[in-house]
Amino acid sequence: MVIFLIYCIVNKQPIGLFDSGVGGLTVAQAIKQVLPGESLIYFGDTAHLPYGDKSAESIKNYSRKITEFLLDQGAKVVLVACNSASASAYDTLKEEYGSKTILMDVIDPVVDYLGTRDYSRVGVIGTKRTISSGTYENKIRIKSPGTSVISLATPLLVPMIEEGFIFDDISNAILRTYLSDASLQEIQALILGCTHYPIIRNQISKIFNFNIEVIDSGRLVSVILRDILEKNNFLNDSGKVKDQFYVSDYTTYFEKIARMFFEGEINLKKADIWQ
Ligand code: DGL
Repeated sequence: MVIFLIYCIVNKQPIGLFDSGVGGLTVAQAIKQVLPGESLIYFGDTAHLPYGDKSAESIKNYSRKITEFLLDQGAKVVLVACNSASASAYDTLKEEYGSKTILMDVIDPVVDYLGTRDYSRVGVIGTKRTISSGTYENKIRIKSPGTSVISLATPLLVPMIEEGFIFDDISNAILRTYLSDASLQEIQALILGCTHYPIIRNQISKIFNFNIEVIDSGRLVSVILRDILEKNNFLNDSGKVKDQFYVSDYTTYFEKIARMFFEGEINLKKADIWQ
């Protein structure tokens, strides 16, 4: 009876996820498609964005504090919905919070998926932090030793997307300049190693004439998350869904771009967890 009650309480708790800002909302959107019965609690660390040019140490400190906030709010899972934080802070978070909650990132599900494919050459694009960490390369080398990984930092893409340059001449020029890099020729798949990039997924596919697989983590993460919740009997079957979206610094600009990233109802609330 007591165990049953504990399950019922945990089931209704939200899935916690965070990013430096609005990019992780592409992951939130994918979760909503796979797990429509789940509530989300999202945290965008807009006071510190971008994470892409921060040090690993700073990102670890931000990530710890956000994880604590999400756990205090009752999150039953904490998902690092940011590649820069997954690359820099996930292992530390696992060590420090792994015994208290279910932790997930956005890199391991992609690495596991690649292990089921037979690619000899894949590309990965992401922020300077994600690429310089070498996390994708290192993890893919272990899981798929026959796959060579070509990594390219594409730092202009986040501000480009946030400023709304999508499927136009400016974004085409930037993408073509980055993606025509000689190293990326003859890749069979391209990993979108930043949670902002699914917004321009079609535009990227078009540049490669739809000839390569473009991999983004959102759906892969959501399916693994569903399996984990199922296995632990943590699925929300109460029929009550309430999503909450927090940012560490609020502006109407964030509110506007958040709507570009997430189709459902969204109201940003400020949670100043840094005081
Ligand atoms: N969305 C973040 C990521 O996946 C990038 C944005 C940033 O640089 O803060 O890495």
